[in-house]
Amino acid sequence: MAEITLISGSTLGGAEYVAEHLAEKLEDAGFTTQTLHGPLLEDLPLSGTWLVITSTHGAGDLPDNLQPFYDDLDAQRPDLSNVRFGAIGIGSREYDTFCGAIDKIETLMKGCGAKTVGETLRINVLDHDIPEDPAEEWVGSWINLLKNEQ
Ligand SMILES: Cc1cc2nc3c(=O)[nH]c(=O)nc-3n(C[C@H](O)[C@H](O)[C@H](O)COP(=O)(O)O)c2cc1C
Repeated sequence: MAEITLISGSTLGGAEYVAEHLAEKLEDAGFTTQTLHGPLLEDLPLSGTWLVITSTHGAGDLPDNLQPFYDDLDAQRPDLSNVRFGAIGIGSREYDTFCGAIDKIETLMKGCGAKTVGETLRINVLDHDIPEDPAEEWVGSWINLLKNEQ
């Protein structure tokens, strides 16, 4: 089955744990995965399926380890019409800019022609001590969508 590239952006490690947990679930479902924490654009295949998981820091900003990816995407605007992607944001409702980072990435990726699969999940850490739990539930539905599209 298809390979899925998991991309995480994190400052404190939470989004990385979620990415690793979801990679296991995807492997259990028969996909192959590669998980990249804070990759550069040049590290990524410009086709296939991506799952982007990022927290938000600053005031609606990307984590430092994913900012170079975003900046390169914005500067180079590669053709992503052969990329389909799922998106998960992790943030806190305490901030007006709740899950601002995933919103920015999603907007930019769509602007480059990438297609979303499924609704973006926004996890409020005030409601979920263990963000892996809502992420795992979401990925079950996402897997069904991917399999139906194949
Ligand atoms: C300094 C600081 C700024 C933050 N700013 C935002 C924000 O603008 N929007 C948001 O939704 N969450 C914000 N958060 C909450 C984090 O996204 C949340 O704690 C998340 O679980 C961190 O995940 P990580 O461990 O992957 O970095 C902020 C947290 C900190 C410590």
